[in-house]
Amino acid sequence: MEKNLKPECIMQRTLSIIKPDAVKRSLTGEINSIIQKNNIKIIAQKMLKLSIEDAQNFYNVHRERAFFEDLCNYMISGPIIVQVLEGKDVISKYRELMGATNPENADENTIRKLFGVSVEENSVHGSDSEDNSKIEIEFFFPKREIFNI
Ligand code: CMP
Repeated sequence: MEKNLKPECIMQRTLSIIKPDAVKRSLTGEINSIIQKNNIKIIAQKMLKLSIEDAQNFYNVHRERAFFEDLCNYMISGPIIVQVLEGKDVISKYRELMGATNPENADENTIRKLFGVSVEENSVHGSDSEDNSKIEIEFFFPKREIFNI
């Protein structure tokens, strides 16, 4: 049944990360406010520090890229906030709200344009597909930490 619905009608979940640069600058509240003003619910959230093994596993798809080692070292440089977001078509909606990977190329008023420092310190991560959102949510959250609010 769901297959015939337009994307904007389908309730989805996505994994969001507020990265070390943004947590360090106390931007979590402002980023959460942008998320919630756009009718996206935060249905799970916690602060943690990744181990190097966690970072390497989470970003495994980028293992062969030149920036992989720097990316992993950056992601363990301080605490991060991981979140599960829920809403209609939230995977692409949140990616639009985040803006382009490189803040220099991001549209005005996107999170990365407002707060990003560089392509590495770009403040936020969001899953890029339904399959990856499931994998990424399971990476961080057992079911008992996700709420239907
Ligand atoms: P993210 O959405 O978390 O997914 C992979 C990350 O790699 C990306 O955001 C960027 O922050 C990071 N990254 C670091 N350097 C580069 C680069 N040169 N090109 C693309 N992504 C990069």
